[in-house]
Parts: sequence; structure tokens; C-alpha cells
Amino acid sequence: MLKVVVCVSGGGTNLQAVIDGVQKGSVTNVEIVRVISNNKNAYALERAKNAGIEAICVSPRDYAGREQFNEALTREVDAVSPDLVVLAGFLVMIPPQLIKKYENRIINIHPSLIPSFCGTGFYGLKVHEAALARGVKVTGATVHFVDEGMDTGPIIMQKPVMVRDDDTPETLQRRVMEEAEWIILPWSLNLIANGKVTMENRQVRVSE
Ligand code: GAR
Repeated sequence: MLKVVVCVSGGGTNLQAVIDGVQKGSVTNVEIVRVISNNKNAYALERAKNAGIEAICVSPRDYAGREQFNEALTREVDAVSPDLVVLAGFLVMIPPQLIKKYENRIINIHPSLIPSFCGTGFYGLKVHEAALARGVKVTGATVHFVDEGMDTGPIIMQKPVMVRDDDTPETLQRRVMEEAEWIILPWSLNLIANGKVTMENRQVRVSE
């Protein structure tokens, strides 16, 4: 059983997709042992509790500085000794010590086809605003391992989504979630949990 901690900041629809996958049996060998939010009002925390998963908040507001927050977050992850950390819409800088400690054991879902519309400042709706402003005809989502950079880690899986002429950032965000994110995040997790994902020289290979 892969012990998983999921980190969230907001609505938690990606968390829900993972919970549903585990409950339905399309995601096997996974136990979500804890959900951590940096935002105490995140609806994602309710989703976790409704599924009987321990849900806690570690907010930067409760600490004197960034270093103290980083230490607390790392401590709360360590406390449950996870095999994998899933960032499912976690919109804070990941502590460097956490990245180091969990090398190749942190994955993130990003709402674009990396390397487009990613890196500093590209999160949530901003990603879709930028994609529409650039006029791309195809966007999508990416699941990747997390390294020291911002959205620069090895790519595990991507799924494209067509942009429509009448899309707004909101409609595009919703379709990217429905057609890509909620599919590839649980799918990637299932593959990792069942030993189907390997990496060599930062290249990920998936065997089905
Ligand atoms: C998702 O679209 C996720 O890809 C994005 O935040 C949203 C969270 O929604 N993450 C990023 O932009 C990370 N750079 P959710 O809380 O409903 O899952």
C-alpha cells in the first residue's frame, strides 16, 4: 500500500478525483493518510473529512516567518511517513528541505501542457488567462515529479484539451479539469502505486 499525503489550497476537485478513484477501485494500492492545506477555509479539507481522511491546516499566517512555516509543513508531512506526496492544487512554495527529503516522491498537477504557461506566477486561473491571451488552440494538463525548480520536474503524463473560440478563462479551466486533470492525476497515482513508473536520467517511462 502506497501511503500518500495530499497537499491542497482550495476547492479540492483534484483531491476528490483521487478519493473517488480509490473508492471506486480504479486507483489501487493507495491509502491517503493525511490531507494538508495551507488555507483553513479550503473546501478540500471538508472533502477529506467527508471521506474519513485526517485533514489539517498548516498556514504561513500562524508562523513568524517562511522558515518556520517550511519547518512546520515538513514536520507535518514527516509525521505520517508517506511514500508519496501529491500536490493537488497546492499554491505555496514547497519547502526546499521537503523537496530534498522526498526526491522523486512528490508529484504535482499543473493545468497546462508544460513547458507552456508554467513557472512563477502561473497557477490556477492565471494559466488559462495566459493561454487564451496567447491564442493557443490546444492546452491541457501535466502531472510531473517535483524538483527544485518551478514546474521543471520530469513529466509523467500529459493530456491535451482543445481551446474553443468562445472560451473564457473559467470555461477553459473547467474543461481542462474535466477532460484532463481529473483523469491523469488518479491515473498517474495508480501507475506509481503499482510500480509502473520508472525514471532514468530525468526521463519517465510508464509501463501499463
Ligand atoms: C487545479 O486546476 C490545479 O491544476 C491548479 O490549481 C487548481 C486546483 O483546483 N494547480 C496549479 O495551478 C499549480 N501550479 P482544485 O483545488 O479544485 O483541485
